[in-house]
Amino acid sequence: MIRLGVNIDHVATIRQARMIDEPDPVWAVVLAELGGADQITLHLREDRRHIQDHDLDRVLATASVPVNLEMAVTDEMVGIALEKKPHIVCLVPEKRQEVTTEGGLNVANNFDTIKKTVTSLHGGGIRVSLFIDPDPDQVQASSDTGADAVELHTGAYAEVWGKEEAIRELARLSEAALLAHRLGLRVHAGHGLNVRNLAPVVRLPHLEELNIGHALIGRAIFVGLQEAVAEYKTLIAQAEYR
Ligand code: PXP
Repeated sequence: MIRLGVNIDHVATIRQARMIDEPDPVWAVVLAELGGADQITLHLREDRRHIQDHDLDRVLATASVPVNLEMAVTDEMVGIALEKKPHIVCLVPEKRQEVTTEGGLNVANNFDTIKKTVTSLHGGGIRVSLFIDPDPDQVQASSDTGADAVELHTGAYAEVWGKEEAIRELARLSEAALLAHRLGLRVHAGHGLNVRNLAPVVRLPHLEELNIGHALIGRAIFVGLQEAVAEYKTLIAQAEYR
């Protein structure tokens, strides 16, 4: 059964729009778990635009499923991860001006820094996943860092969904997943997934985990978070066993 990681950043995005204390991302942890979330994912950005440091503490204290901390490759973030000890860290590229994580990490070009970061996090007993584009060179470099998993960026596929290019993007994802598995990496995926484009991603070879935020939280505005998570769990199960 493929695990569903629910990204709760956008609950904090709404809260930060008013700089007050509600809605609280911790409420989202409880409801997401009631809906069947297998993991809680949150991104502590360097600019703290949504999730705050105290959210990470409270989410870690509340969640009974594993917590996946997305973070940039910086000394500050490594220090926070080693102190707070999430179950897994997903290293992502971060640019201040971007609206969301735009591309994957360039592991091949930043190999020494990323390998050192993976080693430090492993030293603290934290598993590490690298968020990369579905590119064979990036998969190979990720394996060489000693990371445990890759999260394949599905954004390019999501952007062309419904067009012919989607077939090529799915093939890239599929080849990257096969290579990652062959190299001993666990295969995760995420970004831009929604109820329409999800099914082919669920059927990627060796896929173990999906992380979904924007579309799921957007749906939760209308049907409630517990229900939205339950819907995504059903969609994943249906696509997986079809
Ligand atoms: N995975 C990673 C590594 C991400 O950075 C994000 C966005 O925060 C997601 C998954 C979820 O993407 P979306 O919000 O488009 O579902």
